Amino acid sequence: MLIALFPGDGIGPEIIAQARRVLDALAIDGLTYEEGLVGGAAYKAVGHPLPPETLELAKRADAILFGAVGDPDCDSLERHLRPEQAILGLRKALGLFSNLRPAKVFPELADASALKKEVASAIDLLIVRETNGDVYFGEKGMRKTAEGLREGYDIMSYNEEQVRKIAHQGFQAARARRGKLCSVDKANVLETSQLWRDVMIEVSAEYPDVALSHMYVDNAAMQLVRNPGQFDVIVTGNMFGDILSDQASMCVGSIGMLASATLNDSNQGLYEPIHGSAPDIAGQGKANPLATVLSAAMMLRYSLNMPEQADRIEAAVAKALANGARSPDLGGGMTTVEMGDAVLAALN
Ligand code: NAD
Ligand code: IPM
Ligand code: MN
Repeated sequence: MLIALFPGDGIGPEIIAQARRVLDALAIDGLTYEEGLVGGAAYKAVGHPLPPETLELAKRADAILFGAVGDPDCDSLERHLRPEQAILGLRKALGLFSNLRPAKVFPELADASALKKEVASAIDLLIVRETNGDVYFGEKGMRKTAEGLREGYDIMSYNEEQVRKIAHQGFQAARARRGKLCSVDKANVLETSQLWRDVMIEVSAEYPDVALSHMYVDNAAMQLVRNPGQFDVIVTGNMFGDILSDQASMCVGSIGMLASATLNDSNQGLYEPIHGSAPDIAGQGKANPLATVLSAAMMLRYSLNMPEQADRIEAAVAKALANGARSPDLGGGMTTVEMGDAVLAALN
């Protein structure tokens, strides 16, 4: 089994190093690792955020463990050269369309949530976010209006096949959990969302055991704070899912806690924390590595078919938290490496 490691930028290398230590401690036979350049680090080294060798390694690998990309030095480059194109390019080139972002409160962390403890304690939800379409991948550009004003544009679209594919992911996930699927859209305004809603309803005929509901995205943002315990699985488009998952992270305690898997049709997966490269704390040992450690657990579960090893990591994270492991984002003072130490010490 080959794992491609893409540390990337900012805190990426720091958090990937801790996930690697945890994986090594499991001493799983037959795992090999190859590291690749992505993001600003790749641009600075070879002039492109997703070099051909990196893409080739990604295609060859059984799974990809990704840190984060994004570098303020690169923010004024032409868009196709910006670090973020690495993650977008990998998602597109490998057909990684189904982005699973679970948000569950570790009981020990209910105090870290931005919500009241009794509201936060009830959170156990999964956001299923489509990542191959939407406004992210439509035609975009800058132009001049007839009056000579500068105008930026990004076309938002989904075709029915894209929606159908993610709908099945959502329904299947709901079936395996508590049987509730909430589709989040903006069908009161957007044609893209009207198609989304129509296709969700069509696909629901194949899942009579799953209760489908619909919610507008503005209401969903509000409900996530008011009563997040009402959600089981949320299925939504690329941009709404991006925004709602950052919001969900603060409901459970910290952006440094949320892991993700992005799968394609052959269950090849890319695993990454939902957060970015955090340039404001990079190189200071302040980053919480747990989202990345938990992403490694998702990798073992979904792409490498090693659920017991995934359970071991998740149990070790829970135990480390119960033992008081807290990085600054969780209100503590432990460094990135000390958080890794705490997980290793808790590993059975
Ligand atoms: P961010 O997620 O990097 O950071 C937002 C805030 O959360 C910052 O204050 C940061 O310090 C904090 N934070 C993030 N991860 C943390 C962790 N593990 N531990 C503790 N604190 C953490 O979002 P941003 O600041 O909007 O973006 C920074 C760069 O990251 C941008 O270039 C952006 O494009 C990129 N980005 C990349 C990804 C990705 O690689 N998948 C995701 C989001 C943003
Ligand atoms: C994420 C990030 C990316 C996204 C950016 C960096 C392109 O915010 O993975 O959540 O918007 O998908
Ligand atoms: Mn995001």
